[in-house]
Amino acid sequence: MNPTEPQNGAAAKHKILFVCLGNICRSPAAEGIFRDMVEKRGLSDSFVIDSAGTYGGHAGELPDSRMRAAASRRGYRLTHRSRKLTDDDFRNFDIIAVMDDSNYERASRTAPDVESIGKIHRMADFATKHVWDHIPDPYYEGAEGFELVLDLLEDCLDGLLNSLVPNGSTGN
Ligand code: 4NP
Repeated sequence: MNPTEPQNGAAAKHKILFVCLGNICRSPAAEGIFRDMVEKRGLSDSFVIDSAGTYGGHAGELPDSRMRAAASRRGYRLTHRSRKLTDDDFRNFDIIAVMDDSNYERASRTAPDVESIGKIHRMADFATKHVWDHIPDPYYEGAEGFELVLDLLEDCLDGLLNSLVPNGSTGN
């Protein structure tokens, strides 16, 4: 028996944590977009979705106002409060999806053991349309930087969701 499968016949939930540096731009946007995609496919009960940052300096803050505005224009409401990544996150989540190599390095150093490092995945690897190898930090960029992040995330998150629940499946 798979110990992660619930005993009551319900399918195990996919537990996904999105990680960037400050947890105020890229990862809360990923969380909000993914939540929206999962909801639109009627899969909300099959997922646990959250986000965190490898740097805790913005803990407690809402996402950056520029990211909230850009996301809102596409119909996403971002309400997450920034928090720092912890070693417990590696016990509570199955997939830790990071935005760039720096996030990968910093998250690896937070992982409690070597096996946990295997849970870290690069967001850009789920892309099906775009060829970027990372999701670029928009913090010091203009409005186009935020639009680019949203374009890339929409592509990658669609790829991630389809890799977990092939399109057309209910997930059960
Ligand atoms: P994020 O962007 O990692 O996508 O949330 C940043 C947010 C804050 C900072 C850098 C990047 N900062 O230096 O405070």
